[in-house]
Amino acid sequence: MEVAEAAEPMPALATADATARVPAIAATAVAVAVMEAAVATERWDGLLQGATLATLDAANGYGQIENGALAWKDGVLAYVGARADLPGDADTLANELFECAGLVTPGLVDCHTHAVFAGNRAHEFEMRLQGATYEDIARAGGGILSTVRAVRGASEADLFDASAPRVAALLRDGVTTLEIKSGYGLDFDNERKMLRVARQLGKHFGIDVRTTYLAAHALPPEFSGDADGYIDAAIGWLPRLHAEGLVDAVDAFCEGIGFSPAQTRRMFNAARALGLPVKLHADQLSDLGGAALASGYGGLSADHIEHTSEAGVMAMRDAGTVAVLLPGAFHVLRETRLPPLDLLRAHAVPMAVASDCNPGTSPLLSLRHAMQLACTHFRLTPEEALRGATTHGARALGLQDRGVLRVGLRADFVHWRVRQPAELCYWLGGGLADGVYAGGVQRA
Ligand code: NIG
Ligand code: FE
Repeated sequence: MEVAEAAEPMPALATADATARVPAIAATAVAVAVMEAAVATERWDGLLQGATLATLDAANGYGQIENGALAWKDGVLAYVGARADLPGDADTLANELFECAGLVTPGLVDCHTHAVFAGNRAHEFEMRLQGATYEDIARAGGGILSTVRAVRGASEADLFDASAPRVAALLRDGVTTLEIKSGYGLDFDNERKMLRVARQLGKHFGIDVRTTYLAAHALPPEFSGDADGYIDAAIGWLPRLHAEGLVDAVDAFCEGIGFSPAQTRRMFNAARALGLPVKLHADQLSDLGGAALASGYGGLSADHIEHTSEAGVMAMRDAGTVAVLLPGAFHVLRETRLPPLDLLRAHAVPMAVASDCNPGTSPLLSLRHAMQLACTHFRLTPEEALRGATTHGARALGLQDRGVLRVGLRADFVHWRVRQPAELCYWLGGGLADGVYAGGVQRA
């Protein structure tokens, strides 16, 4: 990998099959077999040693462990600590040994994406560079509706093929948990198609994909002038999609060019009736009180929030709602209004960072790059950005079994070809991940 090699060459990852080195037992063949079976069940599946660990398992700081060791068994972390404190000879502890330098962090959690779509909107990018605004384009029937036309015209297989390279890119740069929203179908069959493709992508890549129902994203042409009627219809589709196991959460675009707070509440009431958590595209282009609205429903997160007021931030604090920062959209739309970062810090609202991967506002294929943008545009510290893309990203999805390196949590981790955690936010591009593990299995 060019960038890191130029900076500081890393020794190649060495693997060793430790199974061959189980101490021999002088006994009958049967006794040996019984003994080996017993040893095998106790041994860890894998043990990685020598790297610096950024566990994030501390209220502040990276939770850094130099010359660390990380072991996993049955998809769960079984040891996280100093190599020197391993409870025995490494050779006898695990079936597979990995000797490596570099850095190990929790797997990245991308808690806000629209990664399933067809086509692209590069022409809108050109239009915006000529002076058109995102709202102008949306009101003229482009924007989200242009992607709706492309998604409706794509078969399920086409949609999978179009989306898979994006998921592959996110995974290659460290993502082990990925949220994907619907919202470019806007009718029952096409919303279902999107959610089915999202689930298929998770299976295909062996990572956890969390799905969010975002039918309240834009008003489809067949409901023109009847946003309330459309919300009624979208509320009607939800129980069936939920019954098919396709929905983990419900979202809406609460905005002048999206849906009103009253319409958003109706959608959230339907989610609540099914026991589904909510999250919201809130206060991105104007302050409609979206962050407070989401918090009133105990929302997992309020996302974008560039225009959120202090009252909104305090409502988030009281409800434990995570602030999801989406610097990719801020960057691509050349926004100038920053999210209320000082207020979020002052009120100790957890801040997540996500890619918002989508064809309109954030054609961004790396969560690590989103972390970089969060530092440069929002002045997050690299530690805040890393925590935002791991611990707080997991919280924004309601997941407590990941996001830090700790015994008993999922064995989702990334082995990076850099030594210092801040380098993850420092390098632009380049692909720094050497190994991406989800549930203890290497997936990239
Ligand atoms: O998160 N703001 C609404 N939704 C997306 C953009 C979707 C699109 O333009 O296709 C966002 O920015
Ligand atoms: Fe979004």
